[in-house]
Amino acid sequence: MIATVSGEQFVYRPIGIIRTENTIPDKTPIQPVYAADREGRAEIFSEVVEGLRDIEKFSHLYLIYHFHRAGEPRLIVQPFLEDVEHGIFATRAPVRPNAIGFSVVELIRREGATLYFRGADILDGTPLLDIKPYIARFDHIALSRNGWQDGVDEQTAKRKGGRKE
Ligand SMILES: C[S@@+](CC[C@H](N)C(=O)[O-])C[C@H]1O[C@@H](n2cnc3c(N)ncnc32)[C@H](O)[C@@H]1O
Repeated sequence: MIATVSGEQFVYRPIGIIRTENTIPDKTPIQPVYAADREGRAEIFSEVVEGLRDIEKFSHLYLIYHFHRAGEPRLIVQPFLEDVEHGIFATRAPVRPNAIGFSVVELIRREGATLYFRGADILDGTPLLDIKPYIARFDHIALSRNGWQDGVDEQTAKRKGGRKE
């Protein structure tokens, strides 16, 4: 059976909560790569904390979360870095049919049930759905096509991506 049968629903329970200093969406960096100066922490709920065993040996983690403050879903959006509209699935915009976000963050340290990280492009209070380790052997892609992003120059992306102006 195809898992995307219309109307089928899945219920995920958060495994923790993400704490950051980001409270205003328009002042929050658009990706971890532009948020090197923004630290945050993931507070993991006691029911699943055993699942953190050995996580401190990884330098980077995927935090997978629910965009709890996203607006109504849209299928066509104008992304922040370009004045051209694109399909939502060709962007990282939060207003997705399923409001799922992910950030590859640098793990600073673990203290018990709390993971301290660098690269917070996430709003404070965001429900955390899952954590996966970044594994260069699996995930590093040296050559890639990046769609419309290839037309955005690096200087502009850096300048706008940190949302400091
Ligand atoms: C362009 S999205 C990219 C997020 C993630 N790195 C991704 O690729 O899925 C980053 C923006 O999402 C917004 N955002 C972050 N956390 C959110 C949340 N919990 N609910 C709604 N919007 C959020 C902020 O405005 C932030 O600048």
